[in-house]
Amino acid sequence: MKRVYIKTYGCQMNERDSEAVAAMLRERGYEIAPSEAGADVVLLNTCSVRDLAERKAMGKMDVLAYRKQRKPELVLGYMGCMAQSRGASLAEKQSAVNLVVGTQRFHRVPEYLDRIFAGHDGAIVDVVEEQGSESTIKDHLLGTNGDRPVVGFVSVMQGCEMYCSFCIVPYTRGAERSRPMAEIVEEVRRLVDHGVKEVTLLGQIITNYGRKDMRKRNGNSAFVQLLEAVNEVKGLERIRFTAPHPKGFGDDLVQAYVDLPKLCEHAHLPVQSGSNRILKAMNRGYTREWYLRIVDKLRTAQPKIGISTDIIAGFPGETEQDHEETASLMRDVQFDQAYIFKYSKRHDTPAADMADQVSEREKERRNQALLEILNSGMARANQKLVGQTVEILVEGRSEKVGRRMFGRTRTNRLVFFDGSERHKGELLPVRIERASTIALYGDPAIHNL
Ligand code: 5AD
Repeated sequence: MKRVYIKTYGCQMNERDSEAVAAMLRERGYEIAPSEAGADVVLLNTCSVRDLAERKAMGKMDVLAYRKQRKPELVLGYMGCMAQSRGASLAEKQSAVNLVVGTQRFHRVPEYLDRIFAGHDGAIVDVVEEQGSESTIKDHLLGTNGDRPVVGFVSVMQGCEMYCSFCIVPYTRGAERSRPMAEIVEEVRRLVDHGVKEVTLLGQIITNYGRKDMRKRNGNSAFVQLLEAVNEVKGLERIRFTAPHPKGFGDDLVQAYVDLPKLCEHAHLPVQSGSNRILKAMNRGYTREWYLRIVDKLRTAQPKIGISTDIIAGFPGETEQDHEETASLMRDVQFDQAYIFKYSKRHDTPAADMADQVSEREKERRNQALLEILNSGMARANQKLVGQTVEILVEGRSEKVGRRMFGRTRTNRLVFFDGSERHKGELLPVRIERASTIALYGDPAIHNL
């Protein structure tokens, strides 16, 4: 049996795509290897959103190509976003590459590997668009290895048409395409039947789900209708979703946080910048004031809601004053979590050609300044929870953090505790004893451990 190792870069959507490819390969008689040691095939599922992610994958491929010199039968491939945006050039640049498969053709990977093992000569490159490809990512690795996942990820739509001026995603993921609601609900049901307690619905701009195919109903967008339908699935405990656009947070979605008991009190609201001038240049379609109003509405609806964000430091033309406005927005909002990125030039995006690109050094300085605000705010917020009891969904044992058990609160805070395996899948009250910047440490608040 041929052994395939898949290494994933980038977002949760990529993780989900890799999992689906793995499930399809297993179905086809391949074995999924836990590491690249001894694998017959190594596939890199790539990310293009920043230059660093691309360089990491290409560096990895160079190392693999070197290994292939001593093991010529090793099969190497690129999948996903960088495969989509760079296509055949990847195989031309690196002759060790056998396979390049884009974001709408993941489901063809098993067939292509079969062909390669049957003696296909030269690299196979397939980055075409495919009608209906949004519905091809539906296989899950369930119950294999005796490992029953507690949390599941469901892809509900693909593509993005927002065209933020910095972003490559509309070009790597294509136009917005949504799966039918009934199909999604059925997939969630199947996951729950296999023991999954929490689902995260995934889409590049998930708040745009179904907007091309469905009408509003009682003032509710197609996305809120989807949340309502998933909320009805018996046995499911929690619903999360990512990645939304702040513009998608209409009153219907704010109200969903009140009305839908399974919807977790967490909102990822990527703000990108606190300066109206920069927001405009980014083509984000909202102002700082509008954004702050959404935060207010969410906190009024659910006072404990966790709010996270994405921020870009050093977008072209960003002045010290613009940067200060982002810093002040961070101080005002007090995010529970934030992902701060230095602006990275992406080819063929409007921002790449804008004047006044910020120097690497200045980007780094602004990045650090924003990180400091974030870290001190997070440490303070986590510290406040010490002594309190929170409910977590126990996901399993962490390989890294001292082999402790871990779970998340509904507000998306990570909690570690020493405890038994049997808590996996339970909603468990935990008393918080200590806090770091990014995590909480506690004791199950129950007897007879
Ligand atoms: N440079 C830096 N960060 C970027 N992001 C997207 N494109 C770029 C870029 N060119 C960030 C945004 C987005 C997150 C997924 O990645 O903050 O929300």
